Amino acid sequence: MARVAIVTGGTRGIGEAISLALREAGFTVAANYAGNAEKARAFAAKTGIATYQWDVGDHQACLDGCARVATDLGPVDAVINNAGITRDGTLHKMSFDDWNEVMRINLGGCFNMAKATFPGMRDRGWGRIVNIGSINGQAGQYGQVNYAAAKSGIHGFTKALAQEGAKFGITVNAIAPGYIDTDMVAAVPAPVLEKIVAKIPVGRLGQASEIARGVAFFASEEGGFVTGSTLSINGGQHMY
Ligand code: CAA
Repeated sequence: MARVAIVTGGTRGIGEAISLALREAGFTVAANYAGNAEKARAFAAKTGIATYQWDVGDHQACLDGCARVATDLGPVDAVINNAGITRDGTLHKMSFDDWNEVMRINLGGCFNMAKATFPGMRDRGWGRIVNIGSINGQAGQYGQVNYAAAKSGIHGFTKALAQEGAKFGITVNAIAPGYIDTDMVAAVPAPVLEKIVAKIPVGRLGQASEIARGVAFFASEEGGFVTGSTLSINGGQHMY
């Protein structure tokens, strides 16, 4: 039977590309989304991939959502923690809510999803968790103390959980994308983005499919000896 993967934020942007890549790799995919129901409906109609709505920052919603996926599709073997938001602003303009929402969703979501699925992976002796970090969690970014802290936290979370999962056949890895051609990056003011792109040695934004390829490797059977690792896919912008 096909293994089951949940991709959070799996109906748009990088998440959409990951959902498609994992399906192509043979997984039965559940694509989670939080808010954009119209986009999720269009994604489901176009791809036939099942979509599930819940907020990854809500602990109980993750437990309930993952249980629903397991009932519908089978035990959850892989989780891709991709869902994330930005609330950019310099510290002196950033509200506590801007800080808290980014921590709750971007970092809290990883904890909530792991709590919901790690025990089953342990029991079955196989699992794959891939967390989407960021170049800005590695290098920092002006105007992103919230996002950089959450993404940096994801990299620490990955290495800690990898140590706990190893003896149960569970790998936990991270990808640190650079600037990828998505709605999130398109929201960066054009003159700021131009300066950022000018510093990317490859000379362009990345494509979502280029991140998805890395995820598919981590999630594969052949990726079983790779754990606690971070793969930077950033066009050479930050060599870590
Ligand atoms: N380093 C140093 N100074 C900087 C700077 C930088 N990188 N960027 C801006 N500044 C300075 C400006 O020069 C300006 O200084 P002066 O007033 O002395 O001229 C001052 O900071 C204010 O700049 P802004 O006019 O841009 O201020 P703002 O309040 O309108 O906006 C901001 C601030 C929201 C941070 C805006 O600059 C911005 O959106 N920056 C981009 C942040 C970014 O890269 N976000 C990534 C989103 S995509 C993502 O996160 C995905 C991923 O994983 C990669």
